[in-house]
Amino acid sequence: MNILEIIEKKRDNQELSKEEIEYFIKGYTSGEIADYQVSALIMAIYLNGMTKQETTDLTIAMAHSGEMLDLSVLNEVIVDKHSTGGVGDKVSLILLPLVASLGIPVAKMSGRGLGFTGGTVDKLESIPGYITGIDIPEFIKNVEKIGISMISQTLNLAPADKKIYSLRDSISCVESIPLIASSIMSKKIASGAQKIVLDVTCGSGAFMTTKENAEELAREMIEIGKLANKETVCVLTNMDEPLGYAIGNSLEVIEAINFLKGDMLEDVKEVVLELGAYMIKLAGKGNDIEDNKAQLLENIQNRKGYDKLIQLVENQGGDSSYTKDTDKFPKANYIEKVYSNQEGYIKSMDAKEIGKIVCDLGAGRIRKEDSIDNEVGIVLHKKVSEKVEKQEEVATIYANSKEKLEEAKKRLQEIIQIDENAVSKPKMVLEIIQ
Ligand code: URA
Repeated sequence: MNILEIIEKKRDNQELSKEEIEYFIKGYTSGEIADYQVSALIMAIYLNGMTKQETTDLTIAMAHSGEMLDLSVLNEVIVDKHSTGGVGDKVSLILLPLVASLGIPVAKMSGRGLGFTGGTVDKLESIPGYITGIDIPEFIKNVEKIGISMISQTLNLAPADKKIYSLRDSISCVESIPLIASSIMSKKIASGAQKIVLDVTCGSGAFMTTKENAEELAREMIEIGKLANKETVCVLTNMDEPLGYAIGNSLEVIEAINFLKGDMLEDVKEVVLELGAYMIKLAGKGNDIEDNKAQLLENIQNRKGYDKLIQLVENQGGDSSYTKDTDKFPKANYIEKVYSNQEGYIKSMDAKEIGKIVCDLGAGRIRKEDSIDNEVGIVLHKKVSEKVEKQEEVATIYANSKEKLEEAKKRLQEIIQIDENAVSKPKMVLEIIQ
């Protein structure tokens, strides 16, 4: 067996065997197979797809490419949450401390930004001092001590996914059902959670732009979950416009903190409560979804969720004076408003295009080795369906270069579409698949 034969086979749209998939995953993880060869194979998978069997084999091979975490030492049902990616998606920053504040342990490994979407690890690292790269024994110790730990995917957990994930990002091969399903489920299988709640985003700012594709991805992941004996629930959510108002690392952290202090944006609230209610259900702490939502709301009102976030930040080396006083977060050098050029109702704000603008401002990576700028981004002042007057502020841009600011202003102005007729408010939770 050799990698050229495997590339050739997939290029010619033939099914790969379990042995061939294991061979390429082992070889790539150990460094024997080069990036450029795997790039070619990934592109062939992207173009030709994979059968269900191939996707399952790829998932299992990636999950076993490194350490398999055993969370049974925690003696509790561990429910994991993962999103298929979005723009302005700060749900984990809000939801996970909130769920932990209800006494449900959270052991979460998050990813970095991918393509035009943001990543929780990049957002957490915008809190000065917060360490995401801790080892497994400390990760488990943290969960035992305060009931929550949020870290980055360690080098030895599904390392094949880690390499393939950033390779896909750098060769425009992210939006593929078998590649996304295997990437997410391999991490979930390796990270030891017994149950999984997945936020399957759908719309222009998601990797799945249609509901049909999002449903297919959801079903594929549920199927893999069954085979791995991990109960999986998928919540399909709307990602046509950015989630919440803020897009950009520290700007989103500030929005998440304000949410936990009680300033709940409607669209974020809908998504957080639905996902949280299913996490509580899978943890065996409440079967009634509406009651579970009420429990989550109560821990926002009594600030227990916020207190848990502060505890998490402090426990992982972060400076909680920033989370207590968000004015302390460093500000971008150029902060300018964008105004509407007509009166009417916001018809659309393409999340993908906004994600790209924010990425180009410096909040995301073009190449995998790029560093990111935590201060830059966009804060919207209006959402789809809201009324605007002519020359009313619709967004604020945070930039660290004059040229990038001007470019972003121009692009954003074109993206925000206004209609003279009333526009209905989009529904956020589209479907639950289990
Ligand atoms: N999130 C992941 O973990 N992997 C993907 O491929 C896409 C989103």
